[in-house]
Amino acid sequence: MEKARLGEVPVVDLKCATCDLASEVGQALKRFGFFYVSNHGIPQELLSSQLEQNRRLFDLPDQVKRSMAFNVTLDIGYTGGTGTSQALDPNAGIQAADTKEGFMLTNNAFMGAAALDPTNPRKFLPRHPHLDPKDPLAGATLHWPPGLPGYERVIRSYFASAYELNYRLNDLLFSSLGMDANERNRLGSAPFCVLKQLRYGPGRDALANGSSIGAGAHADWGSLTLLLTDDTPGLQVEMAGEWLPVPPRRGMFIVNAGDQIEALTNGHYRSAKHRVITTSPHPRYSTAFFTYFNYKEPLTPLHEHVNPQKPLRRAPMDTMAWFQYKLRQSVGENVSRPLSTTTTTSSSEPAANATCSFAPLREALVIRALGGGVEGGAEGGVLLGVEALGIDLLSVSDDVIDELIAAMHADGKGLLVVRNQTLSPEGYERALFRLGRAAGGFGTPLLYDRWPGQSPRLRCCPHVSLLGNYRARVDDELGTGAVVGDRIGEYKPAREELREWHTDGSFLARPKIGVALYAPSAVPVATCAPCAKPSAWWRKLLRWPCRPTCRHAPASALPPEGGHTAFASGILGYERLDAAEREQLESLSAVHSWCDFMHFLEARDPGREKVSADDCAKKPDVTWPLVRTHPVTNRRSLYLNPKNGLRIVHSSDGEPASAEMSASLVLNLTKRLLELGTYHHTWRPGDLVLMDNRVLIHAATPFDADKYERLIYRAEFPGEPVYFF
Ligand SMILES: [Fe+2]
Ligand SMILES: [Fe+2]
Repeated sequence: MEKARLGEVPVVDLKCATCDLASEVGQALKRFGFFYVSNHGIPQELLSSQLEQNRRLFDLPDQVKRSMAFNVTLDIGYTGGTGTSQALDPNAGIQAADTKEGFMLTNNAFMGAAALDPTNPRKFLPRHPHLDPKDPLAGATLHWPPGLPGYERVIRSYFASAYELNYRLNDLLFSSLGMDANERNRLGSAPFCVLKQLRYGPGRDALANGSSIGAGAHADWGSLTLLLTDDTPGLQVEMAGEWLPVPPRRGMFIVNAGDQIEALTNGHYRSAKHRVITTSPHPRYSTAFFTYFNYKEPLTPLHEHVNPQKPLRRAPMDTMAWFQYKLRQSVGENVSRPLSTTTTTSSSEPAANATCSFAPLREALVIRALGGGVEGGAEGGVLLGVEALGIDLLSVSDDVIDELIAAMHADGKGLLVVRNQTLSPEGYERALFRLGRAAGGFGTPLLYDRWPGQSPRLRCCPHVSLLGNYRARVDDELGTGAVVGDRIGEYKPAREELREWHTDGSFLARPKIGVALYAPSAVPVATCAPCAKPSAWWRKLLRWPCRPTCRHAPASALPPEGGHTAFASGILGYERLDAAEREQLESLSAVHSWCDFMHFLEARDPGREKVSADDCAKKPDVTWPLVRTHPVTNRRSLYLNPKNGLRIVHSSDGEPASAEMSASLVLNLTKRLLELGTYHHTWRPGDLVLMDNRVLIHAATPFDADKYERLIYRAEFPGEPVYFF
């Protein structure tokens, strides 16, 4: 009956050569949130052995099981019986805990590790350096039950197989959503996984305990769950207020989407509620393999799934914060729901020349407030950022890196300046990976995607581009392929005018959330050395990649006057509006156009490489609200771009405002915002500047390019759509 009315959870056959597997996965997750996987390549013997280990484990005496006490931080150990109890239905309360027993193992070795391997960022879905795909449990802190010979070998083998299968299924999931390689890489690499062995007591035991619920109604918390179950039925999925059985199918996995996938798709794919009802006279054994997207990456919904008809369902989440919240709640801890990755305060009190309220974590670290109109101080009373002194970004601890990022976000500032760094281009990349992966950071730096007129690539460093008018002093300087006298950076002569102010890449479907700049403390004067030992036969045979070594000399390329980068705060701009203005602006959007931007640059610099109509067609216009909400701090800010966002439309129907009104509105708002105060960063060799592109607008100031040279390294972090919620 249910089958006819509610349908039947479909099977995705991974060996089907004529099937569109990605589309099948997408359809199943949209309708059911569940699907079966057949022909997945994991041998039946291993599946049977895994379930046999479940039986052996839970047959151990209570006292042995309790000796492997549950650890809530690492999500490992035993729950159930007289040990820690778990209730998956938060409404049921812990006193109505699930009747199941559970035993967890996680690949926690890499929790707290810094980053992906920056030397190999091109590889699709790279494995985390701390994760061995043949044994993803290597190095993890775990309990191994005593007196069960063969148990560990089977579990490790099963974990590795499920871990590999999750990569394959993620690939189908990402394809079904049309995600690009950067996004796949960002979310799919280094999955956090929880292997949970389960035993549901026979139905009569459950009833004797006052409940027939083996596992209360809940949605899973992560990305995909791969469930292996014995032949005893019990699983049900909620469909339109009714419960549809999902019976066991021999040799297949039952796969379902968790909260992360629902968040990624803004509800397009279901994180369906499900439960386990135990009515059989026999116990039911299963092994759930819960997976999570890369827990260091912020999880923001895909642009295609957020629009006025389908507004954002919930603020973007931090994977680890959400996981810890749900886990602690399930074992009865009194925890509050995480709203953001960063602690914010409501205070917007100006702090003239104040030292930041963050206590230094090390003697040498000093964090100072930046703001106002004077470099290095906050005299204007406007807090826009923080400045860190006395640390080396490559050797400082992860805690200090976290503290820097928290200080940058606090009070909605958005700017971090770290002084006195000595970084090669490779070191700059490593520093960015550390900053990006910190709690509340901007994520994994993006591979440089060159457009016409931009700088050549650096062979050594695929995340780095170059800004400025610096000309090569030796051939192939920095591995750019340039010859002596070539300009190796992208140079956009700045002007002292309102339209110089902008936010980077607002014309993209996912404008980058963060941008990093670095003024090298040493300018390279020697070419990159050729590949080491290029003649070795095995290097040739394997087409070993050429990795030149770049050398540097103590010189800098910064003009002694001008060439600053100035910043102003969109948050302050919004907060100083009156109620009527806020209401009006919250109903308007601006069209941001890459093509307009390119033509703007070409008009300023006739020597610049021209974009073609084809180039323009590849980057269609986008429309963003004039007021946006910061997904980490929840603060609202003006989102303005006088360089390429002068066309205003009404958000409700897309009706354009008059050209005259449009331009004057954007330019006037920008002017008012600047009058509230700006911070002018005067570059010194060794400065690394990290900006939150969602809340700041910035502008370069002119310098005498005939007399002086300027060279800045640049890099971007992943983008996200512009939300107003
Ligand atoms: Fe579940
Ligand atoms: Fe910029």
